[in-house]
Amino acid sequence: MTPAEQSLKAAEICRLAPVVPVLVIDDLAHARPLAEALIAGGLPALEVTLRTPCALDAIRAMAEVPGGVVGAGTLLTPADVKAAKAAGATFGVSPGATDRLIAACQDEGLPLLPGAATASEIMALLEVGYSVQKFFPAEQAGGAAYLKAIGAPIPQVSFCPTGGISLKIAPDYLGLKNILCVGGSWVAPKEAMAQGDWAAITMLAREASALPRSS
Ligand code: 3PG
Repeated sequence: MTPAEQSLKAAEICRLAPVVPVLVIDDLAHARPLAEALIAGGLPALEVTLRTPCALDAIRAMAEVPGGVVGAGTLLTPADVKAAKAAGATFGVSPGATDRLIAACQDEGLPLLPGAATASEIMALLEVGYSVQKFFPAEQAGGAAYLKAIGAPIPQVSFCPTGGISLKIAPDYLGLKNILCVGGSWVAPKEAMAQGDWAAITMLAREASALPRSS
């Protein structure tokens, strides 16, 4: 799957809802009810970060929940790409990008939302065919003002910014022409997961899914 084809698929996934939950799952038992809670609240595209020992099993469990589109985040190596694909991830997200990571996504046929934070990184990814990218870490790297400025010389790239975004500031991003959606962990707080308060997570997802977007 070429980078251009991957970006087409990534755009489709990013357009499903204004927010992609970024999930850090510590307990495999949380995977299914968490996915159900987020999907019920209107957020079908889910990014499970490969940062915990049970992340791949969590992807496996969540991929079975009807109505969801489950991806793997924090892809750093070709081995991560292989493992994510084998676990049933339908897309991948990476904080940055390397040639080896890109080659692995092509070989495995895993649509990648590759991370970039500077004009040169964005241009390098565009050069190989990625017109949809993750802007990371969004708030720390310049926030919505930076993305607005980048949209002038490089309007052909659309972004899913993540990192430091909350319900309150998400509209700053979603109002820009070059933003498809935002990613964030605020819709799945650790405390709510630990307490099994899935209703609270559905409420947060509802608020997030109701955010207006301009593109
Ligand atoms: C991440 O990779 O941790 C994401 O960017 C989520 O960031 P957040 O926890 O600040 O929403």
